[in-house]
Amino acid sequence: MSEEEQNGQGSGVETYNPPEDFAKNANIQDPEIWQKANEDREGFWESWAEELHWFQKWDQVCNWDPPFVQWFVGGKTNPAYNCLDYQIEQGRGDKTALLWIGDEEGDRQTYTYNELLAEVNKCANMLKSFGIEKGSTVSIYLPMIPELPIAMLACSRIGAIHSVVFSAFQPAQLAERINDVEAPVLITADESPRGGKKTPLKEYSEAALEDAPSVQNVIVVRRTGEDVPWDDDRDHYWDELMDQQSDECPAEELDAEDPWFVLYSSGSTGKPKGIQHNVGGLQVQLKATFMWVCDHKEDDIWWCTADIGWITGHSYLVYAPLLCGGTTLQFEGTPTYPDNDRWFQIIENEGVTGLYAAPTAIRAFQQAGADETIRDHDLSSLRILGSVGEPINPDAWRWYYENIGQERCAIVDTWWQTETGAIMSSNLPGINEMVPGSTTYPFPGIEFGLYDSEEQQFLECPASGELIIPKPWPSQLRTLWQDPDRYKDEYFSDVDEQTYYVEDGATCDETGAYTITGRIDDVLNVSGHRLSTVEIENALQGTEGVAEAAVIGRSHDTKGEEPVGFVIIQEGYEWSEDMEQDLIDHVAEEAGSISKPARVFAVDDLPKTNSGKIMRRILENISEGEELGDTSTLADPSIAETIQEQTQQQMQ
Ligand code: WTA
Repeated sequence: MSEEEQNGQGSGVETYNPPEDFAKNANIQDPEIWQKANEDREGFWESWAEELHWFQKWDQVCNWDPPFVQWFVGGKTNPAYNCLDYQIEQGRGDKTALLWIGDEEGDRQTYTYNELLAEVNKCANMLKSFGIEKGSTVSIYLPMIPELPIAMLACSRIGAIHSVVFSAFQPAQLAERINDVEAPVLITADESPRGGKKTPLKEYSEAALEDAPSVQNVIVVRRTGEDVPWDDDRDHYWDELMDQQSDECPAEELDAEDPWFVLYSSGSTGKPKGIQHNVGGLQVQLKATFMWVCDHKEDDIWWCTADIGWITGHSYLVYAPLLCGGTTLQFEGTPTYPDNDRWFQIIENEGVTGLYAAPTAIRAFQQAGADETIRDHDLSSLRILGSVGEPINPDAWRWYYENIGQERCAIVDTWWQTETGAIMSSNLPGINEMVPGSTTYPFPGIEFGLYDSEEQQFLECPASGELIIPKPWPSQLRTLWQDPDRYKDEYFSDVDEQTYYVEDGATCDETGAYTITGRIDDVLNVSGHRLSTVEIENALQGTEGVAEAAVIGRSHDTKGEEPVGFVIIQEGYEWSEDMEQDLIDHVAEEAGSISKPARVFAVDDLPKTNSGKIMRRILENISEGEELGDTSTLADPSIAETIQEQTQQQMQ
């Protein structure tokens, strides 16, 4: 009998039982937990809030004034206190909080909870010396080094709002993000070594600061020690300042609804959205999901492979593991440097128990035939594997389960977004059967629904439609940074003011299990990274000789999707391979190498509706080599065939 038949329910859906040992010891084993939580949702979340430290208890659990929500109203708390002091009070002072592995083999550093607290306090005092206080903003542009979580926790400690900018972003992207929060301080590093290569972060910062006048002080971490451009009045070395600071700094008693951080994410327009999370509710949902979905245990070594520049790194590399008193592993390097067994070496050497990764990495291993490499390593410490960031195709799921999990680990497929702050849906690993490709059930206390916007109606399961979240949840984004109108418009206008519109397609079955099918807006998901087609289009349109551009995602074996551009070139320009390469390079410079189009095709026109909206679906069909599909809504249906012919010629 095959594994599938052994595990399957006979319904035609492939399912796997949770590993027996795992289920017996899981933190949550009660199959009625969904029902219980739904009977008293506020009481359910309140009981999780009680697991954290509060300087003052809340007066009200939830205040829902659609589309704005507040949780634990009147409560006073501090995330850094919960992540550090509160853990030390519970006897974890000498336990390793942060385990850092550098790009080069042998580069390794650990911080106990006591040590991390001392560094965070020094950093908080350093920030205060520049006038940073509760409500100030701080932009952070750092590689994956310990100073990044230290700086985030230091901001949290004094109530300053951090805005972390992904270190692979380019100067223009950094400038845009600094300007939006008007940060007076930027924390960066001389260089960022990754995969044996170095990115000149200080040089990039210099370029960004030409267009970001709010920054008065730059704190520079010496990562490689390389000489970098320097302004004596503005720039300071991190180590020189830290040496002068006291390692004591009281944690600010923050209101549950004080802002915690802003993180930019792509939407369907060119302007990134400054997603704002506040301190109370997000901590609570991080704690709950890390205990029940990630099944945190005291002796775990948890490795979230995401970069801290994205929400997954914020929530499940830095904050959730520390809120639960865990040991979190931060890796600076890449899976293939110096060799393609680097991840497996780390798992073996460090005894990693939980791995939280994106499907794109799994598919890359699968394609590279890493099952061979894995056999040379002892991965028996692993007990739970997580997937996040994009739909995992069943084939990659099985590969993950069989090769990395060696058929004894639980797999959790976790669906959430920058906006949701914390995991919203996943199988609970000690209870639910695992269904490859499906995130199964919303977390207890969370409700999902489906909507059909064409018919303007809510759908009952089983159905297929657009995912919605009908009730507020604790870790919900509170607003877009200083733009409540856009918040309302982006998330609470497609259905009504009370219903959060996700922009993902989904199906649900008769048991209420959900499978997410992907984005339905103009957002690409490249290797688990959210990119806006419009941002890439703007980069193309900013290149000499380009009159108009459209960008779509074409399916790709490991990345999930890759950007492909279509351009109309200005008169007087001659299309050539060199010009195509110039455009590709220009996008990489403007928007970062992950945004780089795989191909750019020159066409005479773009497929538009009467109202001028580009019908990307037609371009998608063309780039996938499929039939054109319905072209009747185009202003000029014949243009689709012309574009198809022109594209096919250039593909050859
Ligand atoms: C997609 C990342 C299917 C989805 C945490 C969502 C997923 C977007 C999954 C958010 C999953 C994330 N299965 N799709 N397990 N996880 N997505 O903001 O389209 O970078 O809307 O947050 O990723 O991406 P974001």
